[in-house]
Amino acid sequence: MYVRHLQVADFRSWEHADLAFEPGVSVLVGRNGQGKTNLVEALGYVATLGSHRVATDAPLIRHGASRAVVRAAVVNEGRELLVELEITAGRANRARVNRGPVPRPRDVLGILRTVLFAPEDLALVRGDPGERRRFLDEVVTTRAPRFAGVRADYERVLKQRGALLKTVRSARSAELGTLDVWDGHLARHGAELLAARLALVADLAPHVAAAYAEVAPESRPARISYRSSLGEAFPGTPDRQALEEALLAELGRLRRQEIERGVCLVGPHRDDLELFLGELPAKGYASHGESWSFALALRLGGYELLRAEGGEPVLVLDDVFAELDRGRRRQLAKVASAAEQVLITAAVAEDVPEELVGVRFEVRDGEVRRA
Ligand SMILES: Nc1ncnc2c1ncn2[C@@H]1O[C@H](COP(=O)(O)OP(=O)(O)OP(=O)(O)O)[C@@H](O)[C@H]1O
Ligand SMILES: [Mg+2]
Repeated sequence: MYVRHLQVADFRSWEHADLAFEPGVSVLVGRNGQGKTNLVEALGYVATLGSHRVATDAPLIRHGASRAVVRAAVVNEGRELLVELEITAGRANRARVNRGPVPRPRDVLGILRTVLFAPEDLALVRGDPGERRRFLDEVVTTRAPRFAGVRADYERVLKQRGALLKTVRSARSAELGTLDVWDGHLARHGAELLAARLALVADLAPHVAAAYAEVAPESRPARISYRSSLGEAFPGTPDRQALEEALLAELGRLRRQEIERGVCLVGPHRDDLELFLGELPAKGYASHGESWSFALALRLGGYELLRAEGGEPVLVLDDVFAELDRGRRRQLAKVASAAEQVLITAAVAEDVPEELVGVRFEVRDGEVRRA
């Protein structure tokens, strides 16, 4: 698939921007702060309904404006769809496909699939488990957009059950019956999410190992594995029924502790994706270059997996070449030049390997000009 056209209005620093793209390589070049990342962030928003830089929508709306609009024409196997999103802070966003409104913004998920790699991705290796859970859930949702709904259901149940745990004062209170009901909901949605994550990690692992070996051939081998908060009770396989039963049993076992502490101690929101280089965990041990390469390998692994499953995603490389040494740049260029479409941002054109010749856009003073 590829993006043929991107238009934004009042998005980040852009009052208005209009870019026509083609398959193959496009490079956005401009000095720091000219708005290059803002443009690829807008595309990322169309693909995931979120930003890789901020957790809320407010910073995406241009300062002084009340709403932002992003419009993308996406071509997939010869068929073009126009996605339009209107982002309003503090209110529900609105979405249209081919100029017709759709019931919910998440109905546009799946039309554009992207894999975006950015400097912030160092947090995949060095940051909290939440960063890695978000990575997994994003790929899960890219594979099957209906998981956006599963994730929303799980989050809702978690919040309500958490609120209930804080009000239940003793193991004999009247609210216990209600807690049983919420345990059931948590186990059901949790098992669905968990099964999808486990299936993903199993499928992703060989791609990540291969991508890392390619980017950093002289380093120790990279390995990923899923760590579940189920501990001993973890069945280890993506069998939904078994996972639901294990979650329910564990919720029962931990009930007294949960009531004492007023927090939900078991479920996919407590899990992690563990990263190893050789025998050692990457977090806390890997060098800067190794951490960076591992983060890149996670993204590229995801990209290769999605590509192998059909419906090749658009590859977005935000400001990555400046961080890599010459060997790693060349390896990344090899992957990128085989992509159906790759969008690259760079402050300095010379940082982009010369084998990635494509269309160049100059981004300057609030304008984008095709060079
Ligand atoms: N909501 C907003 N309203 C107005 N301006 C904004 C908003 N959000 C970000 N900006 C501005 O956008 C600019 C940053 O844009 P962006 O991150 O796209 O730069 P860039 O070209 O990628 O730079 P670099 O090369 O440093 O990565 C900053 O000057 C920032 O102040
Ligand atoms: Mg940038």
